[in-house]
Amino acid sequence: MNAPDTSQASVPLKALSEDFVRKATDRELRVGIVGLGYVGLPLAEAFVREGLAVVGFDIDATKVKVLDEGRSYIKHIPDERISAMYGSGKFLATTDFNNLRQVDAVLICVPTPLGAHREPDLSFVIATTETIARHVQVGQLIALESTTYPGTSEEILQPILERSGLRAGVDFGLAYSPEREDPGNAEYGTSSIPKVVGASSDYERAMANALYGTIVPTVPVPNLRTAEAVKLTENIFRAVNIALVNELKVVYGAMDIDVWEVIEAAKTKPFGYMAFYPGPGLGGHCIPIDPFYLTWKARAYGLNTRFIELAGEINSNMPGHVIDRLAEAMNEKLGLAMRGAKVLIIGLAYKKNVDDMRESPALEFIDKLRERGMEVEYYDPYIPIAPSIREHPEVEGMQSIEWNEEALGKFDVALIATDHDNVDYAPLLRAVDLVVDTRNAIKQKIEKVVRA
Ligand SMILES: NC(=O)c1ccc[n+]([C@@H]2O[C@H](COP(=O)([O-])OP(=O)(O)OC[C@H]3O[C@@H](n4cnc5c(N)ncnc54)[C@H](O)[C@@H]3O)[C@@H](O)[C@H]2O)c1
Repeated sequence: MNAPDTSQASVPLKALSEDFVRKATDRELRVGIVGLGYVGLPLAEAFVREGLAVVGFDIDATKVKVLDEGRSYIKHIPDERISAMYGSGKFLATTDFNNLRQVDAVLICVPTPLGAHREPDLSFVIATTETIARHVQVGQLIALESTTYPGTSEEILQPILERSGLRAGVDFGLAYSPEREDPGNAEYGTSSIPKVVGASSDYERAMANALYGTIVPTVPVPNLRTAEAVKLTENIFRAVNIALVNELKVVYGAMDIDVWEVIEAAKTKPFGYMAFYPGPGLGGHCIPIDPFYLTWKARAYGLNTRFIELAGEINSNMPGHVIDRLAEAMNEKLGLAMRGAKVLIIGLAYKKNVDDMRESPALEFIDKLRERGMEVEYYDPYIPIAPSIREHPEVEGMQSIEWNEEALGKFDVALIATDHDNVDYAPLLRAVDLVVDTRNAIKQKIEKVVRA
């Protein structure tokens, strides 16, 4: 391990913090962002827009190369936004972590998936923190943004960083600020979603506040664990409410009541109700995963998280429910068995208007429908060719079909898994005899469209 520069280690954090806050006010802070994915890249952009210098770090050399060419690897972030970042002269992407020494703040935006037994997989966070520990400087602020269980910053990050010989809250600041980015959301982006910041001392909180305050209003909370719990609470709230409407969908469906019509009417109540929508099951890097971080941690306190477990069970039963509805509809409306029939999955991404297919229910559809003997293809304007996905190797290399009546006409049934806004359903409704819609994408009541 390279020795940190300890020449300033006798300067109290109070003075370091004041200097940091002044630099933030004067837009002189240099920000390092580790992990340039769906979260890190827009965050880098937000700081650059406010005139701060940003160094983006990633272990993926291909991503750095693409960025250096002024291009984007995220579909909903156009190339022009990347070239504007470079054009400002304020952005640099690199795989050289020695540059961590040149920045005032290091923000960690690396993945936090689940392991094989639904336990938190902090390997990316730990590897990143070990790298930072080799370069951490007196007066720096290190802030974790990745979603995780309460206690991670103090129990995992702090001891690793202190292997440097420097101490958190004394020589450098440690903060947690959960990322609330909602990729593809046209209304709210990194620059308009308030940022919760937690730290153990007033000085560290002041540093984090000043840093994030350059891009958005901040919401300071008293400590690191509270900030970690805020993010989990937000995502657990979504997971549980989505499970509730998914359950209502099944129950109302059996009663011949359209759950979408129920929600449209219910949401006119100006208080006490918030609309959540049913779907084919949970997807993405957050909602299906994050709640189980709390489940795991709660066990250490001898506690169960029954709501989370139940929501997980209901949500993960949804793809099976949709497939049963599809089989029934094929039988009733077309007199067709599944084996040998051709099905088109519309939307491979886990949600509309993004190219992210992590945990997407569409992947499970492909697997399960093939198991039942169906010939499966897909259409997704955001994903022309399916990339490699660890849990679904069979999907890699599949290509999105052309969207025209001739190409669509060869399918017996279409299954709408994701409702991208740029899909015109008119040719589909002319060409295919049965459409199973899990998203209420087709609003008209048409005999050949079945909600599932
Ligand atoms: N995607 C979202 O919508 C979203 C929203 C809120 C919070 N989050 C959370 O933010 C975190 C990051 O998610 P994401 O979607 O941006 O992930 P991502 O996979 O899109 O990006 C992570 C990046 O980190 C890089 N990386 C991995 N290990 C690294 C290392 N040791 N050093 C440097 N770079 C490394 C990867 O190459 C990748 O580019 C996760 O904790 C996630 O739960 C995600």
